[in-house]
Amino acid sequence: MANKPFYITTPIYYPSDKLHIGHAYCTSLADTIARYKRLAGNDVFFLTGSDEHGQKIQRKAVELGISPKEYVDKIVASFKNLWEKLSISNDDFIRTTDQRHREVVQTIFQKIYDQGDIYKSAYEGLYCTPCETFWLERQLVDGKCPDCGRAVETVQEESYFFRMSKYQDKLLAYIEENPDFIQPVSRRNEMINFIKGGLEDLCVSRTTFDWGIPVPFDTKHVVYVWFDALVNYITAAGYLDNKNKFDKYWPADVHLVGKEIVRFHSIIWPVILMALGLEIPKMVYGHGWLVVEGDKMSKSKGNVIDPIALIDEFGADAIRYFLLREITLGNDGNFSRDALIQRINADLANDLGNLLHRTINMINRFCGGVITASSATEPIDEELIKLVKATATDYERLMDNFDLNSTIKSIWALISRANKYIDETGPWALAKDAAKKERLNTVLYNLAEVLRIVAILISPFMPNTSPRIWQQLGLSYNTKTIKLSDAQHWGLLPVETKVATPEPIFPRIEEKEQVPVLEVKPEPKVVVPETPEVTIEDFAKLDLRVVRVLAAEKVEKADKLLKLTVDLGSEQRTIVSGIAKHYLPDELVGKDVVMIVNLKPAKIRGIESRGMVLAASSGDLLKVVTAEGMPSGSKVK
Ligand code: ME8
Ligand code: MG
Repeated sequence: MANKPFYITTPIYYPSDKLHIGHAYCTSLADTIARYKRLAGNDVFFLTGSDEHGQKIQRKAVELGISPKEYVDKIVASFKNLWEKLSISNDDFIRTTDQRHREVVQTIFQKIYDQGDIYKSAYEGLYCTPCETFWLERQLVDGKCPDCGRAVETVQEESYFFRMSKYQDKLLAYIEENPDFIQPVSRRNEMINFIKGGLEDLCVSRTTFDWGIPVPFDTKHVVYVWFDALVNYITAAGYLDNKNKFDKYWPADVHLVGKEIVRFHSIIWPVILMALGLEIPKMVYGHGWLVVEGDKMSKSKGNVIDPIALIDEFGADAIRYFLLREITLGNDGNFSRDALIQRINADLANDLGNLLHRTINMINRFCGGVITASSATEPIDEELIKLVKATATDYERLMDNFDLNSTIKSIWALISRANKYIDETGPWALAKDAAKKERLNTVLYNLAEVLRIVAILISPFMPNTSPRIWQQLGLSYNTKTIKLSDAQHWGLLPVETKVATPEPIFPRIEEKEQVPVLEVKPEPKVVVPETPEVTIEDFAKLDLRVVRVLAAEKVEKADKLLKLTVDLGSEQRTIVSGIAKHYLPDELVGKDVVMIVNLKPAKIRGIESRGMVLAASSGDLLKVVTAEGMPSGSKVK
């Protein structure tokens, strides 16, 4: 049977500037999904590229005194360099300045014009050049672009219009009949409301500048940059030049895009496709934004994070791991250097790195570097093997839902279990007793086998780390030929495998700047004040429970307060918590936090709050107390 095709895309980014960590996040997400699908046996086509036309780019080039083409060539080279450094496995890179693309855009424009869905008229309205978006007066917020908050310009020119209005009902019906088309569901509702508000015909050509694809029958016009850009997805799939390829990959399985451009992908794009009689992509997934210390990245704030510098400092796999572990798909997430270093040290150097290092080290020291099998199993082995199997099964389900951060959590739960297994079985003690040789072999085999499987499961996330683990285990696996089924069967690690010498895969990061601070101030920062003693009966009066945060939002006009909806297992409650300075609402969703359930209800800013979330605080620092993975309602005592 032929492998199932899977077509995934990222947005094609504007070469108006160097790419930042937010773009790296989106492309890492898409790459990890693409690699997972290949691992699962799909025939994957993974596309990224650059969106090079339009007024914004032309202005930038004029400012620099070079031609637009010279300008984009240079920046696009930096895109390609970034993707290579980040180990991005795209199958194609489309530039909207490619000849193949120009032909498709002109063919399509002509076709839609010929069938009467594009007509000439005069446009008078407003335009946001940074967003390359047309707006009506009534759509502005405080006279500014509703998307980016920047100033808009008045545009008055002869234009071609695309008859979007004609397709309004058909589009709405499509979205309603295909609940998976727009993800996550919050974006879907937004789009439905937007369409119900009425679809206007879209201005699809410009005459006041010339950096674009000429309208084939009226060359003083260039095609509107979004009409041009969206079409990239069919150009690269072979719409005009490779029918077999196009039939195989179209419609795309998922267009992964940032939440701010879901509207273009779920409204303008399907209508273009409907006008062409082509199928609609199966899914448009709007991911959240990466913010820096709670703030939107922007040049004027000077907080734009350069991914190249981070990759040079920490390596591609650590950056990919951090981005995919920290951010829940669909939600916004926070980038901070401290959080990155903490993850590298705790999860990579400590949990994963130690498991590998201890295992390889013990096989070398106790068994002459050779993995030997044994048939004897004890309950503790069975438990470990059961968890391995469950993790590999969950993996497929979670990854198919693009739930990448839950996947990582589940793999790391296995890694922790395996580290604990070392402590519980005590191989160093077994090694001292010749009668326990067989038991020792079993324990070490199980550990090596867990690592073989873990390395397969993490390979879509960390494509450079897995080969290093296999190499230390003495296996000749590689990421191109490895299959998911290799991870779904326990015991495939051949006996008599000779391991290599152990080498740390993730060295601990010591932040040098912090050392002098510690030396100057040796006294502990947290001073515990004297408090009266309580009895166990006093303590028992508090009903402390683990609750899962289902939703979180800012409380209007209160910059410290968040309104949380939490699940107690038996019921849901609303509480108001003074932690808005420390957490973005999205960051809290899905967390299992500890709450006092029997606190007297209080009215805060008109909201009845029933309970209080526990948090640790010291100076400016604050962290909610969590019990990750515990069922809602679990008692804390
Ligand atoms: O919109 N956090 O290009 P663009 C997360 N050319 N992702 C971010 C981000 C952030 N802070 N900032 C940007 C365009 N992104 C058009 C697309 S597609 C036919 C045309 C990511 O260079 C996110 O995926 O402005 C967002 O949608 C995309 O970069 C926008 O890139
Ligand atoms: Mg943008």
